[in-house]
Amino acid sequence: MPNLQHLFDNNKKWSEKITGNDPDFFQKLARQQNPEYLWIGCSDSRVPANEIVGLMPGEIFVHRNIANVVVHTDLNCLSVIQYAVDVLKVKHIIVCGHYGCGGIKAALTDEDHGIIDNWLRHVKDVCRYYKSQLDAAQTFEEKSSLLCELNVVEQVTNVCQTTIVQNAWKSNQDLTVHGWIYSIKNGIIKDLNVRISGQVEPELLSGK
Ligand code: CO
Repeated sequence: MPNLQHLFDNNKKWSEKITGNDPDFFQKLARQQNPEYLWIGCSDSRVPANEIVGLMPGEIFVHRNIANVVVHTDLNCLSVIQYAVDVLKVKHIIVCGHYGCGGIKAALTDEDHGIIDNWLRHVKDVCRYYKSQLDAAQTFEEKSSLLCELNVVEQVTNVCQTTIVQNAWKSNQDLTVHGWIYSIKNGIIKDLNVRISGQVEPELLSGK
């Protein structure tokens, strides 16, 4: 039975490298985490949250799912947001999508992908909201890239509308929600400039 020994070897080297720079690193981290950021991103293996923003363990709290979707009733995601906002008091929530997202592309087709199609219904809803903009795209690539961006905007809106974020803003907690997109072709993140840091009228939250 393969026991994935190479991963344990990698892990040992990684741990030694970190303690080589800071012998107390893990002891300090074991006492508490104090991240300033919550990252909500895609599960895609090419978009590792800590690495692409150059942060160490302990510096970013992470939730990932297929196509970085924030569903109003998803207890998994809501629990992560609540812990991050209420307990860790993160100052920033970053929704980061990525171009070339398989989930987004799948949502643009009517092919049968199995159970995941139920999850991707949420992205298909985004398609419906922005139908005219998406219909104007010339090629499938253009349409998929645009939907990757629009999906981020929509999920930022969903984060802002959670009772958790609304209550944080009501009590004047310092909290900003950001929408970013990452290119797997060059490793660069682009800010979609949908920063929201306080209560705004719901109709202003998205371009619908
Ligand atoms: Co993806």
